[in-house]
Amino acid sequence: MSKRTIVAMPGDGIGKAVLEETIRVLDAAGFDAEYVEGDIGWEFWKSEGNPLPQRTVDLLAKHKVALFGAITSKPKDEAFEELSDELKEKGLVYSSPIVGLRQHFGLDICVRPTKSYLGNPLNFIRRGADGGVEEPPVDAVIFRQNTEGLYGGVEWSNPDDKVYEAFLTHPKFKKNFGSTPKEEVSISTRIFTKNATERILRAAFNHAKEYGYNSVTLCEKPNVIRETSGMMYKMALKMQAADYPNIELWNTNIDAQMMWLTKNPENYGVIVAGNMFGDIISDGFAGLIGGLGFACSAQMSAEGIAVFEPTHGSAPKYADYDTSIVNPIAMIESACMMLDYIDEKAISTKIRKAVADVIEEGTVRTYDMMKMSGRPDVIEKGAASTTQMADAIIAKL
Ligand code: NAI
Ligand code: MG
Repeated sequence: MSKRTIVAMPGDGIGKAVLEETIRVLDAAGFDAEYVEGDIGWEFWKSEGNPLPQRTVDLLAKHKVALFGAITSKPKDEAFEELSDELKEKGLVYSSPIVGLRQHFGLDICVRPTKSYLGNPLNFIRRGADGGVEEPPVDAVIFRQNTEGLYGGVEWSNPDDKVYEAFLTHPKFKKNFGSTPKEEVSISTRIFTKNATERILRAAFNHAKEYGYNSVTLCEKPNVIRETSGMMYKMALKMQAADYPNIELWNTNIDAQMMWLTKNPENYGVIVAGNMFGDIISDGFAGLIGGLGFACSAQMSAEGIAVFEPTHGSAPKYADYDTSIVNPIAMIESACMMLDYIDEKAISTKIRKAVADVIEEGTVRTYDMMKMSGRPDVIEKGAASTTQMADAIIAKL
C-alpha cells in the first residue's frame, strides 16, 4: 500500500507543540504516513501579508487531508501594525486563515465529539437524589454547520442606501428600526441554505445510525428564529420520517439546551445545529469532559477535503515556555478522527485505548488535569509536560 500523505499545518503558538507530539504518537502507533508541512498563521501574515499562502491551499487541494494545530488571530488594527514595513502600504486586511480555509474548501460539516474518559478529574459531577456525588458519563457528538449562518460574514455597519432601502421593505425592520438613523444601524445576517442544511442534518442522522445512537437532537430556536431555524426543523422532521424511522428526533432550544446539559448531559447523543449555536453547544459539552485540552474536531467538505484540529487556540502566553505544558490530547483525539475518516480504524482504536489507559491510571497528568493555573513551574509541581503526556500514551500503545 502506498504511503499516505498528510498535510501538517502547525500554525502558531502551542499548535506547533501539540502537532509535533501527535505525529510522534501516530508514528508509534504504526500509522505509515508522510507529512508535508503547510504554512499558515501569524508568521506568514507578518512576513508575506497572507496568513494562508496559496501554496498551502494548493497542498491541501492536492493531498486532501490535513492536521491543523492552531493559529493566532488579532484585531484588524493590531494586525496592520505587525505587518512588515514594506507590506504596510499595500492595503492588506487581515482575516482568519482557518475561517478562510473553511470557506475556500467548503468545509461545511464540523463534528465535535465530547466523550468523558473514566478517571478524568475534570469530568462533570453532580449531587444525586441520595445526596451522594454522581459522575454521569457524557457522550455527545455535536454536528455544527460550519460555513453559513451568523458566521457567514454577510454584514454591514451603516449599510449603503440600497441595502438599507431593501431592509426597509421588510415590515418588521420598518416598524422596529426604521426611525433609527442608518449610521446607527449594524446588521449581521443569518443565512441558511437548503443544500448545506440538508448535508449537516444527513451527516448527523447517518452518524447516529452508524454508531447506534437512538436520538438526534436538533438544537436551534425555531419558535423565534422562524425562517432559518424553522427551515432546519422542518427539514429534520421530513428527513427523520423518510429515512431514519428508528432514530428519534428531539427538538431543543439553544438556551434551554445549555441548561439541560448542565443538569443531565448523559441524556444527549448526537446533536445538530447551525454554525453559531453549534459552536456554543460544543464548547458547553467540552467543558463537561475536561475543557480545551480534550475538545477535538473534524471539518469536512463534500469534495473529500478534511481538516482535523483541536478546538483550542494558540494560547500564546504558553508558547514561549522552555518546556511545553499544554495538554496534547485534544490534538491527538483530532488525529484519531482523521484516522477514522481515512479508514484506519484499527490504529485510531489503539490510540484512543492508550489515551484512556493513561487517564484512568492517573499518574501522568498535564497541568489542566491537576487544576493548576498554567505557569512554567507546573512541571516542578508534578504536572506532566506535553512531551511526557505523549510519551505516556506511546508507552501504552
Ligand atoms: P486558547 O484556546 O488559545 O486558550 C485559552 C486558554 O485555554 C489558555 O490560556 C489555556 O489556559 C487553555 N488551553 C488552551 N489549549 C489548551 C491545551 N491544549 N491544554 C491545556 N490548556 C489549554 O484561546 P484564547 O486565549 O482565547 O486565544 C488565543 C489565540 O488563539 C487568539 O489569537 C485566538 O484568536 C486564537 N484562536 C485560534 C483558534 C484556532 O486556531 N482554531 C481557536 C480559538 C482561538
Ligand atoms: Mg469556539
